[in-house]
Amino acid sequence: MRHFLLLILSAARYADVAQAADTPQPAAASVPAANPLLGLPPVPVPADNPQSPAKIALGDKLFHDKRFSIDGTISCASCHDGSKAFTDNLPVSVGHHGLTGTRNAPTVINAAFYKFQFWDGREQDLEGQAKGPFINPVEAGLPSHQPILDIVRSDPDYKAAFKEVFNVADAKLTMEHVVKAIASFERSIVAGDSAFDRFYFQGDQSALNEQQKRGFQLFLGQGRCVSCHVIEQDQALFTDNRFHNIGIGINAVQDDVPRLAQAFLEAKNKGGDVDQMVLTDKKSSELGRFAVTDGISEIGAFKTPTLRNIALTAPYMHDGSLKTLKEVVIHYNNGGVTPASAPVNPYLSGGIRPLNLLDSQIDDLAAFLDSLTSQQYLKSVVARPGENYE
Ligand code: HEC
Ligand code: HEC
Repeated sequence: MRHFLLLILSAARYADVAQAADTPQPAAASVPAANPLLGLPPVPVPADNPQSPAKIALGDKLFHDKRFSIDGTISCASCHDGSKAFTDNLPVSVGHHGLTGTRNAPTVINAAFYKFQFWDGREQDLEGQAKGPFINPVEAGLPSHQPILDIVRSDPDYKAAFKEVFNVADAKLTMEHVVKAIASFERSIVAGDSAFDRFYFQGDQSALNEQQKRGFQLFLGQGRCVSCHVIEQDQALFTDNRFHNIGIGINAVQDDVPRLAQAFLEAKNKGGDVDQMVLTDKKSSELGRFAVTDGISEIGAFKTPTLRNIALTAPYMHDGSLKTLKEVVIHYNNGGVTPASAPVNPYLSGGIRPLNLLDSQIDDLAAFLDSLTSQQYLKSVVARPGENYE
């Protein structure tokens, strides 16, 4: 009963949100009775930043405004593009003047549910996260947040919108307001209701094909994927909100780790900014969660990402180094190394071991991952060369 009520409440909240964000609504007749939040818990909303349609619309506008970058070409949406499932589908992102960062842009879909933001969890909430990209030297590249404040305090449309949403004007308008609106918009970008959700939470046996059902059994059993990509009884976020070294990227710096870790700590103690250090220096990026906690055991550990809509967000992993879901499964099957002949890194999670899957089982597991695409994003599915699981 409680579960039922929660669903109704969250569905109602979603309805507001979808309307406010001005998302084109598909014709009612073409949509089966769908609940976009099927399989998800209610969206966590901080007490000091309640959702409202006007705030979400304002956040949407800020998210797409290219004026908040050094050369006027970059907005949040440049790297989190709504037509690409809120990613850029690049191995690593490209910022102003074509500068490249070190990491793959995760999707913003369902980021609202994470306990930590970024691959290394260096921010806890969406509000904190949103301050970084504007002043990161390889993203929007602004020297400070001041140019943003100059625009929102003088642009008549922004002035009116901030007044309506926060009842704040001119000099009292700060970055806190800006990031609150952006975070609200992001909390409206949530999506459950995949074929998997209809199969697992609604008992619709026809939602998955036979290959996907076999893949699901491997996900739970021999593949042990579910130990980190968690599925609960009444909802599934496919993350444990923890950090693990699964053998990605670290091989390139392995021999250099002691020196790198030492140099990183020294720079950090001298006031170095972690956000800038990890996104501008490829080697520092590979230190992973260590960069945030200074814990040696967390070298090369990254956040377990959700697997929802994973078919749409290639390439994969924090460095975008694996191109297809099949390559991902092969990496796990190898026991956390790519290629299979590469040495296992000393910081590898104890949860990663060779899986002894047959080729056909690798395909089954990859096919299961394809079933995690939300109904509302199915239209974004494009055929990928060499990957046809049917
Ligand atoms: C130049 C490309 C680029 C721009 C511009 C950009 N991002 Fe990102 N975004 C990234 C990359 C790359 C990461 C991962 C960085 C990391 O984890 O260290 C990321 C991470 C995130 C995350 C964390 C998601 C997760 O799964 O942990 C959120 C949320 C996000 N960005 C929102 C935004 C917002 C809001 C803006 C605008 C203020 C923005 N991004 C601008 C590339 C970009
Ligand atoms: C020990 C915990 C753990 C286990 C077990 C695990 N994963 Fe992961 N998974 C992670 C972490 C952590 C990452 C991100 C690693 C990185 O980028 O360095 C990840 C990344 C992924 C990605 C890429 C996500 C993206 O957005 O780029 C996919 C797909 C994936 N895992 C699928 C699986 C499958 C399938 C299995 C079972 C065969 C599995 N995982 C087992 C922790 C785990």
